[in-house]
Amino acid sequence: MYSPLTLAGKYIGYRLTAANGRGHGIHSPFVYEFIGKVLNDKSPYPEYQTAERLRAKLLSDQTPVPVEDYGAGSKSGGGSKSVAQIARTAAKSPKYAQLLFRMVRFYKPHYVLELGTSLGISSTYLALAEKTSVVVTGEGNYAVATMAKNNFEAMNLTNVRIITGNFDNTLPEMVSATPQIDFAFIDANHRKKPTLNYFRELLKKASQRSVIIFDDIHWSKEMEEAWREIKEHPAVMLTVDLFFLGIIFFRPEFKVKQHFRIRF
Ligand SMILES: C[S@@+](CC[C@H](N)C(=O)[O-])C[C@H]1O[C@@H](n2cnc3c(N)ncnc32)[C@H](O)[C@@H]1O
Repeated sequence: MYSPLTLAGKYIGYRLTAANGRGHGIHSPFVYEFIGKVLNDKSPYPEYQTAERLRAKLLSDQTPVPVEDYGAGSKSGGGSKSVAQIARTAAKSPKYAQLLFRMVRFYKPHYVLELGTSLGISSTYLALAEKTSVVVTGEGNYAVATMAKNNFEAMNLTNVRIITGNFDNTLPEMVSATPQIDFAFIDANHRKKPTLNYFRELLKKASQRSVIIFDDIHWSKEMEEAWREIKEHPAVMLTVDLFFLGIIFFRPEFKVKQHFRIRF
């Protein structure tokens, strides 16, 4: 991972070079619509409160949890942490989790796949966004996955299912059990090789209308390399770089590849 100073420098570079977040000068109608109707949608959806109540509960829970390390890129480290620590360090912040919610609400995917459940905060946002979507989320840490499952049950989230196990073993099965991957959020092992493996595996069930989101694309040299390779893949026609998230669209109607950096 980059040092905090390097990351801060990169973030400043992004803020200075990214396109204006109001959509000025964006000539793609698809991206213009995304900015206007999704990125900048400031509606106070009541589901935000449901998900944030879960976050608040977890942030005050000092129960120790064994944390497994899935490689140096995993943000969870190793040893033992409290639920509160995991919720504070691993979960997407409200700003980005709520963007995921709005994307699912807007694009209405049938099948949503999430790699990296942790305690289930982002999964909760994904599941609340569209009740008719089926969300399948994967988590390798058994103790954490059990807590996430309990959290889903406590909130009566019936459209989310958790698969426990290391993606090295579970991902091929998760993908083959999903008829089609309409929307995916990749927030697991933040290293180049696993990230590219996840991408290749998801491509097997992606369609022209699929949306795939990668977490922390500028977090390390490896993640930046993975993001570059993903952008270059011939099927990827449109990418949106929001610094902490990278979004890809396939849509062959675009004909020419386009890459956007948008201030968010
Ligand atoms: C950053 S956290 C996910 C946070 C969650 N998406 C949220 O925003 O609430 C990443 C999770 O991925 C899990 N993970 C990392 N590598 C994995 C692997 N190879 N197999 C299964 N789970 C993995 C870690 O245990 C960790 O809980």
